[in-house]
Amino acid sequence: LRCMPEPYKIKVVEPIRLIPRKERERAIKEAGLNQFLLKAEDVFIDLLTDSGTGAMSQDQWAGLMIGDESYAGSRNFYNLQKSIEDIFGYKYFVPTHQGRGAENVLFPLLIKPGQYVLGNYHFDTTKAHIELKGGRAVNLIHERAYDTAVEHPFKGNIDLEKLEAFIVEHGAENIAFILMTVTCNSAGGQPVSMENIRGAYQIGKKYNLPVLLDAARFAENAYFIKKREKGYENKSIPEIVLEMFSYSDGCTMSAKKDGLVNMGGLIGIKEDYELYQKVRQMVVPIEGFPTYGGLSGRDMEALARGLREVVDEAYLASRIHQVQYLGEKLKEAGIPIQEPVGGHAVFVDAKRFLPHIPQSQYPAQALCVELYIESGVRGVEVGTLLAGRDPETGEEIYPELDLLRLTIPRRVYTYNHMDWVAEGLARIAARKDEIRGLKMVYEPKILRHFTAQFEWV
Ligand code: F0G
Repeated sequence: LRCMPEPYKIKVVEPIRLIPRKERERAIKEAGLNQFLLKAEDVFIDLLTDSGTGAMSQDQWAGLMIGDESYAGSRNFYNLQKSIEDIFGYKYFVPTHQGRGAENVLFPLLIKPGQYVLGNYHFDTTKAHIELKGGRAVNLIHERAYDTAVEHPFKGNIDLEKLEAFIVEHGAENIAFILMTVTCNSAGGQPVSMENIRGAYQIGKKYNLPVLLDAARFAENAYFIKKREKGYENKSIPEIVLEMFSYSDGCTMSAKKDGLVNMGGLIGIKEDYELYQKVRQMVVPIEGFPTYGGLSGRDMEALARGLREVVDEAYLASRIHQVQYLGEKLKEAGIPIQEPVGGHAVFVDAKRFLPHIPQSQYPAQALCVELYIESGVRGVEVGTLLAGRDPETGEEIYPELDLLRLTIPRRVYTYNHMDWVAEGLARIAARKDEIRGLKMVYEPKILRHFTAQFEWV
């Protein structure tokens, strides 16, 4: 796979350093074999997340200088409003400090205790906010998403038959809304087809249920539609995005991904004025006055500009290509990955890669630790550790997939960095039988993956 030159050049650089192997061993042991507890300075290439880790453009940085820090009615709020109208085709929006802030404000307005929220696959904070409001989060992604070896162009699709059957079985009155996550992060950054978004929207309309988008990676999803879905090859990305959002009543968005900013989020509403009024009231005590909602004026300006930049096809082509490139390199080295490669990350299938480590010994976390020691690269576990325990029985939940996520920040690393990551994993592959599983020696009650501590078994 040839590399594709980035449609930008580098103006400012941030030094990174590969500390010696002995120091990496010391650092990860001190961190209790938990990469979340490492100092970022001890990390060479940081693939923990694509959230808030991207690089802004010169236009965004210039925009910071016209930040209007008025408490109410900041000019940057109106610039952001214009971007959202133009790009999403929505009438209303409220800024929030990040994606979970949007969930926290919007969900209590839509969920009555006991109601279900149906989605393709809810992100963890989304699930948490649904449950905190007394709702029940249900994932109805198509089954093939659970098999990393199955190739399908839209592995993020919701199973429309299951969706409708669930509504019929449980009654529309017991369902709060339908939430389509684009791309589907928890299923490996897999895209959702236009046909599927439209289908979910039609089912929503049939049963009078609101349909929302979790729009964190909307532009990457649109790019996949253009490349993979019949009838969209000659449409522009902005046209595709407008159509995607036309099949929704509103959205929550973490702007830290496809907003191309380091912090920010929003609630978008297509046309429901009454809901907008409720959101405007609710946002005040939680996030802030509705024209800033937890963001400074300059941050809103950067986001207003980021949303316009992210729908540029040349940018998206290079972004997606870089992620695919890493996936190809890993495949060449015989490392099992989730296929096809998603939009923002490559997921290594640790169950297939390290079959000698049982799920009770956190194979993906063990691999994550090994990768840091081998090459200074920080990934993140998406598997048994993240899944946690069953709240009722206290038993470990063993998810279908135990993955190591290598999440690529936007506009930050070059192809050389990708080569380094792939070489590190290839070296590990050559001696993978020596890798030992982990046991947890400290386990916090909630969101354990962030602060848990381990030892090798
Ligand atoms: N929805 C999706 C699909 C996400 O991926 C995230 C965050 C959120 C909502 C929450 O947004 O972080 O701004 O509050 N995902 C990050 C990740 C943290 O690493 O995948 P937030």
